Amino acid sequence: MNVLIINGPNLNLLGVREPGIYGSRGFESYLTELRQRFNDINIDYFQSNHEGAIIDKIHEVGFSADGIVLNAGAYTHTSLAIADAISAVKTPVIEVHISNVHKREEFRHHSFLSAVCVGVICGFGLDSYRLGIESLIGINKK
Ligand code: DQA
Repeated sequence: MNVLIINGPNLNLLGVREPGIYGSRGFESYLTELRQRFNDINIDYFQSNHEGAIIDKIHEVGFSADGIVLNAGAYTHTSLAIADAISAVKTPVIEVHISNVHKREEFRHHSFLSAVCVGVICGFGLDSYRLGIESLIGINKK
């Protein structure tokens, strides 16, 4: 199975950025752990602070990868263009968030992406990504 994790804007600062909300662990060390845990799956990783780069990546892998785990950061709440990219491709996309966006400011309650993703996982800290991969494994077994 080939899976891609995409992290959007400001998620390159995980570990340093607002640790009270996002935790104090950097993503790279978590990714190493994920790859060890799912050692029979190829997990690629892409992070960008740019909307167009995220869209290009979805187009690039969206007809060949078995799944995408996407944390689009704040673009979740603003980007019709990323929603259209998800709709345009064949690969199933799982929307994930580290924090429980529904417990936070009202502007984080709406997602342009949820309706075009297979499902949404939020509020489990970095474990949201593991749950995202588990859900892709579940879909692939069907
Ligand atoms: C986030 C939640 C978003 O509202 C926020 O803009 C982020 C991170 C999360 O993982 O909890 O950048 O997607």
